[in-house]
Amino acid sequence: MDNMNNNLPERDGFASKFGIIAAAAGSAIGLGNIWKFPYITGIYGGAAFIIVYLACIAIIGTPVMLSEFTIGRRAQKNAIGSFKKLSPNTPWFITGWMGFLAAFSILSFYGVVAGWTLDYIVKSVMNTFAGSDADAIAGIFGGLISQTWTPIFWQVVFMALTAGVVLGGIKDGIEKYTKILMPMLLVIIIILDIRAVTLPGAGAGVAFLFKPNWDLITGEAILSALGHAFFSLSLGMGTMITYGSYIGKKENLGEVALQVTIADTLIALLAGLAMFPAVFAYGIEPAAGPGLVFITLPNVFQQMPGGYIFQIMFFTLLAVAALTSSVSILEVVVAYFHEEKNISRKSAVITATVAITILGMAASLSMGPWSNVLIPLPGFGSVGIFDWLDLFSANYLLPLGGLFISLFVGWAMDPDDLYDEVSNSGDLKVPYLAGFKIATKFIAPIGIAIVFLNNFGIFG
Ligand code: PHE
Repeated sequence: MDNMNNNLPERDGFASKFGIIAAAAGSAIGLGNIWKFPYITGIYGGAAFIIVYLACIAIIGTPVMLSEFTIGRRAQKNAIGSFKKLSPNTPWFITGWMGFLAAFSILSFYGVVAGWTLDYIVKSVMNTFAGSDADAIAGIFGGLISQTWTPIFWQVVFMALTAGVVLGGIKDGIEKYTKILMPMLLVIIIILDIRAVTLPGAGAGVAFLFKPNWDLITGEAILSALGHAFFSLSLGMGTMITYGSYIGKKENLGEVALQVTIADTLIALLAGLAMFPAVFAYGIEPAAGPGLVFITLPNVFQQMPGGYIFQIMFFTLLAVAALTSSVSILEVVVAYFHEEKNISRKSAVITATVAITILGMAASLSMGPWSNVLIPLPGFGSVGIFDWLDLFSANYLLPLGGLFISLFVGWAMDPDDLYDEVSNSGDLKVPYLAGFKIATKFIAPIGIAIVFLNNFGIFG
């Protein structure tokens, strides 16, 4: 296995068409959809934020995803190597390096949240929430994350699982599981939706999701929507460049990009629909922050037939969804160490995992004993370590990475190469080509730049 991975030029590919979509969707669908999307929607006030988010996905996310697939499949290399190969002796590879930094900071806090889901599997099995009211359930969550050792223990377990899967390779590792488990997750979320919208008092939550209040849309809210579009679609840091390099030459890249985007967006919206009716029904604060899913859903499971089993399944599948995403994040760092620094894949996995886990421990501690450690982040005031890593990566590094990726495809990549790659050497019709070019040359870069500058008050 290690040998196969060491031999990256003969890249380990995806076996079936559904496998590709499942793996790319597996990277995209994760805590971003089910944990983060609902809680930031809660913070920024609901429907209007969702509309801005959907616009970012459609106008900027989709073309950037196709750009990443195109770069990766053309170059047949990792994120940094792809730029070096397609544009030798230019500084474009710095984009890949930024992706490395983003991967490092995202995975550090991602592992912490994924650790909470592991703890929640155990809590669900032990029926810890039985008989607790909404306040008690919130207290159980607060009790968990503010401890020193328990969250770190679960974070370490999760990071070890991530490292294990990355060592296992693509076909046997990622593809096999995502194909079955992602559709199962979808089914459970739909069941939750049905229960949530039929709860007494659910109407206010449905209104929160569908009735926009534009007063709440500030520069910060728009940047967060854009940043989350990148985070949720796994864009701006080279994950989809790397996965693109595994996609077979016969696949239609435009179609794959569209399908992954739709699947990811659908899951996020369905997760929001499962959350907010319940949030209002149980009198939970919509802007409760990172704990929202953990303090809302146990209430719902308690009031549903088979809730005990469904809750165990839900947190298990959420952990798996997190795993198929964390694997794709670790892969970016490992590929950098391995291919650019000539370290064996095994040592690269171990080194990267240990370093990221240590940084993640600081993020975990910032939820409890270190909560008074605040670090300034321009545009966001002073925030704790966990939030700093999250905001810095999602709202700075990923949009900037996306800006450079679209500029690269729009302006630097040879147009013949571009056409050749998206059309499979002329085999496919690409009616969207002109639009794609305008999107990567102008719309995406200008859009990102405006959102960015706007947050810093440049436009008043
Ligand atoms: N898209 C993943 C999620 O929504 C997180 C992720 C971000 C994965 C960036 C890869 C790259 O959970």
